[in-house]
Amino acid sequence: MRIRFILAVLIFSSESFAETARYRVVWTGDPSTTATIAWDQIQGDDPVLYYGTKNVKGDLKKFKHFTKPTRNVPDYRGMNNMFVRLENLQPDQEYFFVIKDSEGVSSQYWFRTAPDKPKAFTCIVGGDTKSYGSALIAGRESNMMTSKLRPLFVIFVGDFNSGNGLPSSRWQQWFDDWFLLTTTYDERLIPIVPVHGNHEDGDKTVLHHLFDVPYQGDNKENIYYDMAFGDFFSFLALNSQINAEGAQTHWLEEHLKKYKDYTFNTAGYHKPFFPHTSRKRENEHLYKLWANLFFSYGLDLSFDADSHITKMTYPIRPSNEKGSHMGFIRDDKKGTMYLGEGSWGAGPRSTDDLKPWTLRSGAFNQIKWLHVFPEEKGKPARIDIRTVITADKTEDGRLIPYSHGVVPLKEGQEFDIPKGIKLFTTEPYGDVISFPFSEK
Ligand SMILES: [Fe+2]
Repeated sequence: MRIRFILAVLIFSSESFAETARYRVVWTGDPSTTATIAWDQIQGDDPVLYYGTKNVKGDLKKFKHFTKPTRNVPDYRGMNNMFVRLENLQPDQEYFFVIKDSEGVSSQYWFRTAPDKPKAFTCIVGGDTKSYGSALIAGRESNMMTSKLRPLFVIFVGDFNSGNGLPSSRWQQWFDDWFLLTTTYDERLIPIVPVHGNHEDGDKTVLHHLFDVPYQGDNKENIYYDMAFGDFFSFLALNSQINAEGAQTHWLEEHLKKYKDYTFNTAGYHKPFFPHTSRKRENEHLYKLWANLFFSYGLDLSFDADSHITKMTYPIRPSNEKGSHMGFIRDDKKGTMYLGEGSWGAGPRSTDDLKPWTLRSGAFNQIKWLHVFPEEKGKPARIDIRTVITADKTEDGRLIPYSHGVVPLKEGQEFDIPKGIKLFTTEPYGDVISFPFSEK
């Protein structure tokens, strides 16, 4: 049995980890025309990325474009990180690619660019993975669920590994898991939009060096940036782990203004303003800096993580009037819905700090699955939000995994609800909470 296992690992390694490994597609800026493809160049020299919109089944001569890496970060977290920043891509297109180096040619993978006009899509939002134990296994469940739901992209709201973000082996494991488990059965890579969390605080430049995300000004620790497409959807990746005052809050206001007329505007940051577990401290300074701006510029959804639970609020706005609680009051028409709080893989905590404006909260491993629809045939634009339970625990602490019973969606079926999926129900709304929100 053991020999067979070792043999399987050897065969698997020689095919999948040849000279390049740990592929990831990263989205920042405008993903209808740009994307960054990154990988770990383990061996071999002179890598070249061949790519194009046609499925040429890996035949080098048939790719329309090729380019060398635009950035190399060698010897960082034990990896030789290569980046190709692709530009002038066609919107809403499949892009196929291989990497050729002195040792050979990789398998062919592909990804999809974002549309450049309002068009329905799905995405997944979550955060908090761990590096060992049942929390690592639970994180892999969420990764596999992501592969089966094949969203257009994932927003990952921080905390990639256990510890302070410095151990190389943990990052290598994270990227192996991400590449091997979130890639779909037909080799489609799911782009990631990463956000900095407190478990990355050991090196606050880490997302720039491993994902090539931009920083602001001349300080590489100032990692916050925007991602938006099609006059339709914007996401502001904020950073709760650096000074939020001054430059960052000024940047936030500028970018909320910039995207004001988009159909849906969202923002993400790791630490919730007011966590739904008593085990975590309040982050009132972030509330004071950002909540009013969110409301003034009509932010629709806010994403956070960190607490290892799930929460969804009613639409709320800052207020000190009668009926408000911790500076927020429910406002179904104009408020922002706050979704979070992590538990992609990390062990769930108790949800013992609910608020009057909490719509739903629970303790299990989960990802948020968003179906985003533009206005169509007189029907207003909306976002359907589902909380997908990816793992849970028995009373005696054993992990219950939920991904393997789920039938993977096929390309073109991304809005279907797959058989075997376990969704968190909120009565009287059922499995779906829609934004704009209306009471049933
Ligand atoms: Fe955290």
